[in-house]
Amino acid sequence: MGRVFVAGSINMDVVATAERHPRIGETVAGDSVLYFPGGKGANQAVASAKQGVPTTLVGRLGADAFGQGLKTFLAAQGVDLSFVKDSPGTHSGTAIITVANADNTIVVVPGANALVDGDDIAAPGLAKGDVAVSQFEIPLPTITAFFKRARAAGATTVLNPAPMKPANTALLDLVDILILNETELGQLTGTELSVTDAAGRYADAARTLAQGRIVCVTLGKRGVLALVDGEQLLVPGREVKAVDTTGAGDCFVGALAAQLASGSKLRDALSYANAAASICVQRMGAAPSMPTAEEVNAVLNS
Ligand code: RIB
Repeated sequence: MGRVFVAGSINMDVVATAERHPRIGETVAGDSVLYFPGGKGANQAVASAKQGVPTTLVGRLGADAFGQGLKTFLAAQGVDLSFVKDSPGTHSGTAIITVANADNTIVVVPGANALVDGDDIAAPGLAKGDVAVSQFEIPLPTITAFFKRARAAGATTVLNPAPMKPANTALLDLVDILILNETELGQLTGTELSVTDAAGRYADAARTLAQGRIVCVTLGKRGVLALVDGEQLLVPGREVKAVDTTGAGDCFVGALAAQLASGSKLRDALSYANAAASICVQRMGAAPSMPTAEEVNAVLNS
């Protein structure tokens, strides 16, 4: 079995729930304030570790109370933290999130995540069969260096370009599997896409990014569309009652990476990750919502 290495962000999510999101300039009364471990890198690492696959997180925390709490939580989920460093002099990554009607808005302040560097990603030993995962909440040159190492070792590289930033071709050329949502696909390809568009429109936009790599577009409740060697795969969404979609995309990425490291075929891994994300959205919070392999298999067999 391969292993999963995630180079990415670790945040404390400060979540306010309310009946609806405020408009710009408006104040609305909230219902509760909640603190959840999060950050796209940490969420993806937890999602992978909970599938029983050895998972290492590479990242940074501030030397503060949030950092301590995040470390304790992540270790309890089975994530290897040998390559998570403390960065005195800055705060742990913090996300300010509003959740209303299951949807969220997020402002992320990177703090220590902005300091993850080339030395950090040079430390863990990658090997053939491993899966290297990253997102855009750590510096892009660090991700490029990480994927160069991964490619040299024969590992598979998975990029989730979220939140979207202009990415250079030197980075994109190192990506074996690109996983993005509808919004990110529109931004990366400069295409106007809407949630009501037919799957074919997404496929056309995704095709411009394929260039020898696999592209997976997560479509929320509509499921996931993947382009593999020019072939279009569509895994339909599962009908569930969502309470909080925060971290659902990360759940998909982490579960998919774990399945690929275990040797699953891509189509099976897509169905598995789609089922995992359908569980995640039925729970509040990001990292604590990631399901176990047992829970995912129960959904797949139901
Ligand atoms: O993808 C969800 C995550 O985005 C949250 O956990 C938050 O920390 C931000 O990074």
